[in-house]
Amino acid sequence: MRKELLFNQNWLFVDRKVPISTEDDQFQPIDLPHSNKLFKHHNIDNQAYQFVSTYRKHFEIQKPGDGSQVVLQFDGVMLACEVFLNKVEVYQHKGGFIGFEIDLTNSILEGHNTLDVYVDSNERKDIPPFGHLVDYLTYGGIYRDVWLKILPYQHVRNVFVQPRQVLIDPFLEIKLELHTFEAGYQVRTRLLDAEFNLLVEKNTALANARQTVILKDLPAIHVWDVDDPYLYTLETILLVGEQEMDRVSSRFGFREAEFRKEGGFFLNGEHLKLTGLNRHQTYPYIGAAAPARLQRQDADTIKYELGCNVVRTSHYPQSPHFLNRCDEIGLLVFEEIAGWQHIGDEDWKQLVLDELQAMIERDYNHPSIILWGVRVNESPDDDTFYTRTNALAHQLDPVRQTGGVRCFLGSHFLEDVYTYNDFSNTVVEPPHKPYLITEYAGHMFPAKVWDGEDRLIEHALLHTKIQNLQRGHPDISGAIGWCAFDYGTHIEFGSGDRICYHGVMDIFRLPKWAAYFYQSQISPKDKPVLKAVTHWTMGDRSGGGNNPLTVFSNCDEVEVIIGEINVGKFKPDAENYPHLQHPPFVIYGLNEFSAWGQRRFYDLRLVGYLDGKPVIEQNISSNKLPKKMLLKTSTAELLADGSDMAQISFFITDEFDNPLPYARNIIHFELDGEGQIIGENPFPMMGGQGAVYLKAGKVPGVITITARTPELGEQKITLKVINAA
Ligand code: GAL
Repeated sequence: MRKELLFNQNWLFVDRKVPISTEDDQFQPIDLPHSNKLFKHHNIDNQAYQFVSTYRKHFEIQKPGDGSQVVLQFDGVMLACEVFLNKVEVYQHKGGFIGFEIDLTNSILEGHNTLDVYVDSNERKDIPPFGHLVDYLTYGGIYRDVWLKILPYQHVRNVFVQPRQVLIDPFLEIKLELHTFEAGYQVRTRLLDAEFNLLVEKNTALANARQTVILKDLPAIHVWDVDDPYLYTLETILLVGEQEMDRVSSRFGFREAEFRKEGGFFLNGEHLKLTGLNRHQTYPYIGAAAPARLQRQDADTIKYELGCNVVRTSHYPQSPHFLNRCDEIGLLVFEEIAGWQHIGDEDWKQLVLDELQAMIERDYNHPSIILWGVRVNESPDDDTFYTRTNALAHQLDPVRQTGGVRCFLGSHFLEDVYTYNDFSNTVVEPPHKPYLITEYAGHMFPAKVWDGEDRLIEHALLHTKIQNLQRGHPDISGAIGWCAFDYGTHIEFGSGDRICYHGVMDIFRLPKWAAYFYQSQISPKDKPVLKAVTHWTMGDRSGGGNNPLTVFSNCDEVEVIIGEINVGKFKPDAENYPHLQHPPFVIYGLNEFSAWGQRRFYDLRLVGYLDGKPVIEQNISSNKLPKKMLLKTSTAELLADGSDMAQISFFITDEFDNPLPYARNIIHFELDGEGQIIGENPFPMMGGQGAVYLKAGKVPGVITITARTPELGEQKITLKVINAA
């Protein structure tokens, strides 16, 4: 039977290239995922991660005597590496965004073995995305999981489960790839429902190491949808005679996703307007080395907090944990290859092709993925190259469509979907169909949480405007904004402190006001939303006052109460935003109660009504002196695996919990228990909000984190640390 062991724990690390003969005492103990460097949350210097480091792991193994294979799988090493087993080089890899496997069977020793990995995190011009400028940081290290697999000699290498005729008479076309082939091989395919009940089983005699098996006569199937992401499992059992040699499980969903020339995008035959954001895989402090929990949390944030139905993995294949979560929650994905505006020489292009193949072979069973990106983001036309990338994608996956993101309209249309970064601050007429907007806003309007009110409102309304326009245009399948979260970047981009403040959330995944627009499009059946976009001050805007007051809400009506005065109930601005399900409320006439220099300035109270009933309210104090420090954790429980992390967010607020963007408190953290605070400590507050990570140790128990600021006292949070399964 195959064994797949997570191989993340108990590595050694040194931040330079040392001879393999170097003693262990020159290294420090670490666990994966690992960033070769920790950073501040901004002012990140990309030189800081550009070096070769050495990772080492000692391990014991019983050398399988039965011909089983020993395979090491790296899910992501940035940016290139050389792997040595017992001082002998066994592998080299170029490219940091997709995994690779190394067959160690012939080089492994009985008992003790030592693995040494030189990880080159320099921005090497011979490896995508580098060669020219890049507007993001790649960071460095063995930043995703590593697995050790013991595979029976006769094993299944890959299973591509392709649901066909989903809406008419569904069946499965299962493409198998075996490691070996001999006469007498059989395969048993078993379809299991979400509770792992067996639905259908079939034995097929095999004639080849690559073979397609059809599984028909399925019971009524439950389609995978954004609102009901139902997942099935296909078990593939390799038999020689009656003996089971290998068994693999592949999770997938029955769904039909299609961009059509007329009418945009259809999921399971139904029209669906796509609304989404781009995501970079990078985080404050830890570069790209986020453990599973943080990866999954990003998907949750984009789906549940921002109400999006699609995400683009700009600009590279992302973590399996992120994609798995997208499947589980029904968040559609446009998955991209690595690159940014530049195309290199033939060897460089070959790396792109190899990576495209590896991405499709890794990810084709994800029902969430609806489009393969086969063009280096915003690169010039190269018809020969992009004809090859398209052909490769279609050959590997005959069903999914391709997209190729460009930023100039005359670009040749070689893909199935014309995917365009529209930075016109409006929406241009689609030059081809099907058509999808893959970026907007971004550098056209950077915004920081602590920016003035005018700018933050304009930022939020730019996102609102573009979504309104795209929703009203029948030939636009959807629009994916730039971007979900602020990110670290190179000197040629960003706001000077090496951050691109292009997110609708900050680098900590905490909202700016533009996030409230996306939230307000969530159905009120899921949750009522009401968020005023105002600092509610007399003098933050040009001209002072609060007129007009913009409120993002999915309610029918919003009642405005200032102090004791009930100003009235207001309706959403459907006239200016006719295509939005929930247009913003733009409320004029408040100057009488809240203009610059009024004698008294009162608190604001907003009440949201649905079907005439009050369902949600927001209070904002007129007194901006910091009243509270709030502390929140993203999880109550961590795994004692040495790398799991909780996000600990903190806010300086008014008495009603609204963050105060100009609070300048300094927060000190203290930890009690086995774990580590990753982040700035003390943390100088900016924007009224921030976060650090709390990393678990390897001992179950409890950890308490205390946050202190002299003006507002202290807050504590206690987390449980439990044994990993
Ligand atoms: C695009 C690019 C993104 C990002 C964005 C900023 O041109 O594809 O990576 O740089 O601009 O708005």
